[in-house]
Amino acid sequence: MLILRNQVESRAVSLVDRAVVTLLPAVPKRVVRTLSSRYIAGSDLEDARRVVAELNAAGKLATVDVLGEEITRPEEAEEITRAYLDVLDAVDEDRLDANVSVKLTGLGLKLDPNLARDNLKRIAERGTFVRIDMEDSSTTDATLELYHELTAGGYGNLGVVLQAALKRTVDDAHALAGANVRLCKGIYIEPPEIAYRDFDDVRAHYVRALDALLDGGCYVGIATHDEWLIDEGRRAVRERGLTSEEYEFQMLLGVRRDLGDRVVADGHRLRLYVPYGRQWYEYSLRRLQENPKIAGYVAGDLGRSLFRRR
Ligand code: FDA
Repeated sequence: MLILRNQVESRAVSLVDRAVVTLLPAVPKRVVRTLSSRYIAGSDLEDARRVVAELNAAGKLATVDVLGEEITRPEEAEEITRAYLDVLDAVDEDRLDANVSVKLTGLGLKLDPNLARDNLKRIAERGTFVRIDMEDSSTTDATLELYHELTAGGYGNLGVVLQAALKRTVDDAHALAGANVRLCKGIYIEPPEIAYRDFDDVRAHYVRALDALLDGGCYVGIATHDEWLIDEGRRAVRERGLTSEEYEFQMLLGVRRDLGDRVVADGHRLRLYVPYGRQWYEYSLRRLQENPKIAGYVAGDLGRSLFRRR
């Protein structure tokens, strides 16, 4: 039974997933907007404000992500940085229970690491917690180094992300004792030399990394929609006698709402990742192309909702 379940859940990238991705650019923009609307707050800050307020009213926390495409000029990094500063103004003005998630490449990492550092400092200096998302493995060292550097330099409101798919992650977890760490599976398809690809291997490594982080006194954002891992998360915090203020679960906006509601009803903190921005179309295409498995999920969700309507 377990083997069967794993085979069904073992969402290897299928031909259907790839077909969805290949066909996607031919789908009218208006249809993609409808498809992505449950995963993205909208194109403007006002959309993010509204969605976060609704989540807060439902007892959920949020982390806001300003969507940006790959940048090629410092002016674009400046635009993204300013957008984050506007988000932080809105969080203060509306007294929202939210923080922000930033991507260092969006702040200029690949143009000039000093630019990314300066922009990150400007955002962090506002005082609200800032999560540095983890991007593909070409950025892992630079991301962790900048995090350690700024934290040692007195920026106490920063957190990072570790990806269970990467083989280095348990070692990284040990080096992050006491930190605020989001743990996710990892969305990027990485080479087998440095990453686990098998579904069960990633799960097992996730649990090892979670145990290492919690034993190291970290505040962990357990970021997953995988029910089996959520149960492992519940086990891990229960075994250590943690209160609900000492960890949180995290999910993506629009994904497995049923599961999120159950997590909240059971008394755990839940934070939703809320992306918004004018570049929603480019972002949606890129995320789907980076990992065709996601396209399969979206197609699956769509199929289920169509059947429910009948
Ligand atoms: P899994 O992929 O097995 O999904 C479990 C179930 O959830 C699926 O069967 C499906 O039903 C549903 N599902 C999952 N993702 C879905 C989607 N996008 N659309 C529709 N349904 C979906 N990655 C990274 O590399 N760097 C990062 O910084 C982050 N940050 C981040 C923040 C938060 C809050 C979350 C929840 C996730 C991330 N991720 C991430 C993404 C993460 O690495 C991973 O790709 C996804 O969470 C999917 O993995 P699951 O653990 O949900 O398991």
